[in-house]
Amino acid sequence: MSDKPIISVRGLRNSFGDQVIHEGLELDVQRGEILGVVGGSGTGKSVLMRSIIGLQTPDEGEIEVLGENMVGRNEDEAKNIRRRWGILFQNGALFSTLTVAENVEVPIHEYFPFLNCCSWTNRPPGSTRSPRPRSTSSFARSSRNSS
Ligand SMILES: Nc1ncnc2c1ncn2[C@@H]1O[C@H](COP(=O)(O)OP(=O)(O)OP(=O)(O)O)[C@@H](O)[C@H]1O
Ligand SMILES: [Mg+2]
Repeated sequence: MSDKPIISVRGLRNSFGDQVIHEGLELDVQRGEILGVVGGSGTGKSVLMRSIIGLQTPDEGEIEVLGENMVGRNEDEAKNIRRRWGILFQNGALFSTLTVAENVEVPIHEYFPFLNCCSWTNRPPGSTRSPRPRSTSSFARSSRNSS
């Protein structure tokens, strides 16, 4: 197995106008490593994450994820690369109007619409969530609360 980092950031610079958020930031994350980024509000944690996943173009620097350069990719290329990982956001990790199974179906529907796989896409307009077992509902709640 290669010991090349899964995420590699070199010489990252991000700024908004005169406000420099990152300058010369270097970061490696190895396969299987769990990394927490800690810092005061507004210190650039989210901007770093957005840069790594390709939602924000840095002023300078190189970012590689799974061996793929994330800087300067066109939307189709970026979308293809993003299929290879999952991201859980801080809040609202699940769609609260959908069951857990339906939440799992969302990316399948997004990337493979021709499969017509998803029960919730066929619901009549205005209908609410489908009935679901209690354990499923509890799981959805605990998943949301743990993000
Ligand atoms: N799109 C933007 N336009 C202008 N300034 C921005 C933009 N996004 C972030 N910033 C600024 O960049 C700085 C870093 O923001 P960031 O959201 O990365 O902070 P953070 O460390 O994630 O904070 P928090 O802990 O509150 O989530 C902040 O000063 C913020 O105001
Ligand atoms: Mg943040």
